[in-house]
Amino acid sequence: MCGIVGYVGQKNATPIVLNGLKRLEYRGYDSAGIAVLNNGAIERRRDVGKLENLERRLADEPISGAIGIGHTRWATHGQPSERNAHPHLSNDGQFVVVHNGIVENYLELRELLRAQGVRFESETDTEVIVHLIAQLVAQGHDLTEATRRACLQLRGAHAIVVMSARYPDRLVAVRIGNAGGVALGIGQGEMYIASDIPAILEYTRQLVFLESRQLATVTANGYSVQTLSGEPVDAAIHQIAWDPVSAARGEYRHFMQKEIFEQGRSLTDTIRGRISFEDGRVTLSDLPLSADEARRLKRIVTVACGTSAYAGLVGKFMLEALARIPVEVDYGSEYRYRDPILDGDCAVLAITQSGETVDTLAAMEEAREKGARLWSIVNVIGSQAMRIADGYITMQAGPEIGVASTKAFTASLVDQYLLALYLGQLRGTLSAEQARQHAQDIARLPDLVGHVLDRAAEVEALAKKLRDYQNFLYLGRGINYPIALEGALKLKEISYIHAEGYPAGEMKHGPIALIDEKMPVLAIAIQDSVYEKMISQIEQAKARRGIVIAVATEGDTFIQSKADHVLYVPKLPPLLSPVVTVIPLQLLAYYVAVERGADVDQPRNLAKSVTVE
Ligand code: AGP
Repeated sequence: MCGIVGYVGQKNATPIVLNGLKRLEYRGYDSAGIAVLNNGAIERRRDVGKLENLERRLADEPISGAIGIGHTRWATHGQPSERNAHPHLSNDGQFVVVHNGIVENYLELRELLRAQGVRFESETDTEVIVHLIAQLVAQGHDLTEATRRACLQLRGAHAIVVMSARYPDRLVAVRIGNAGGVALGIGQGEMYIASDIPAILEYTRQLVFLESRQLATVTANGYSVQTLSGEPVDAAIHQIAWDPVSAARGEYRHFMQKEIFEQGRSLTDTIRGRISFEDGRVTLSDLPLSADEARRLKRIVTVACGTSAYAGLVGKFMLEALARIPVEVDYGSEYRYRDPILDGDCAVLAITQSGETVDTLAAMEEAREKGARLWSIVNVIGSQAMRIADGYITMQAGPEIGVASTKAFTASLVDQYLLALYLGQLRGTLSAEQARQHAQDIARLPDLVGHVLDRAAEVEALAKKLRDYQNFLYLGRGINYPIALEGALKLKEISYIHAEGYPAGEMKHGPIALIDEKMPVLAIAIQDSVYEKMISQIEQAKARRGIVIAVATEGDTFIQSKADHVLYVPKLPPLLSPVVTVIPLQLLAYYVAVERGADVDQPRNLAKSVTVE
């Protein structure tokens, strides 16, 4: 996963930046690089593989200077190679950039820049940023203004740091959306920048966190922050405690909150290096499969528990639609007790964040004994579910500490979408054009997730109104029915409120008897093929005096006349919609639990990894 470190002060930047990058090693990366400014010239060293390769390179070809930036990269566009590693330089060698995120419109920007004579050295999306900035400075803007204007041309979510030989006293840092944070560390006559606090915590505990669409100009003696529209910002300074737990939690009150807000970034990491945004081709290097084997597959059986099982129910829609393979989903805790029918033409897909859930592992063993192909989707690298599988996909969500799973859930949805595209390509159920379109849809996810998170304050306000209700009903249809189950699970596990998830069409077969003015009904009613049906369920709930909260598509004003409260999410193709519809439900559960004073990160009776039957 990508990491950024920057330094400006009186000391040599190289060891400080390198040391910061080392502290981010746990996030994973495939290449790394550093650039410093020395006597008016930018010097750069990059290398693939482990950080020690870059360290060795720096020992052989040292660079030093009082201002510098560094980056660890996990490939998204282009292979891990030295020329694709950050920092990226402008053609005149005067500007250099490091970046986390995905430039969704990089293909069109690259064509535009090429037509103006810009030479591209890498296959990355990042490189367009440095060329845009160089052009804007050439047109007469200073570094901050050029960066601001360049950022206005980028689509997607980003964290960016810029250095220039023309402005040797400053770095410019930007945060747009949730492709990772940008923290400014305040020192004595020196300043630090980092995507993750552990990178700089050894030097300072006084930090400023950029919000989305903010930009900072950072010199040795201070910093100034403005919005991307150019208004000055008086950013608050946070004092971070030294203990490792507070340090890891950073600006957030709870890990669960941090993990919800990290989802733009975690999804960027999930997508990284696995799909080509040019031709839509999916590469899952740890799940080798020939076209012949993929075509022979007759069935997929997904086994999982809790939140991971609900992710599997969403994945069923994705796999059946894109790869045209029948999928059944079962609880790990039930599977081995029904003597399941399996053979070599079946694949059993275990989904497990921890990779150690005993019931899911038992289901995997059952599948192994019956000769099925065994796959897993895991977050914890090296876990049992990863080791015993024939092929696996990692979630790349980063450590999930909160017991209530959030970012691992959305990551496992995206992993299943990638798996569905991969199988669809191998089985010939997807055309090249369809694959390209899917890649473009996936590229938008981190940014759109950021849009939902930007509205968190609305959910917080709603939570204050709902905190004292004792029962909730969550309704959804089709691919968003499992999201109703997941929303209800989130609420009950951390706030101890009874909540039930139901397929909306089933409401009239029983649960409708429960609805009265004491029963909030949460309806996922986005504009898809079942929208009208959802509206009629909402009307039925309203007719019985239920309090209706709708999760709806941005721009749908009609629904305001039907529901008591509306939480909007951006429009996405239906198969990807659960990635955004679940987020207001995670936020609602979180804020209700906080309102009720519950122990959000360690709810009673629950463990992060359930290793007993
Ligand atoms: C999720 O919020 C729960 N804490 C729980 O349902 C969890 O998803 C389940 O125990 C499965 O865990 P796993 O993904 O690590 O296998």
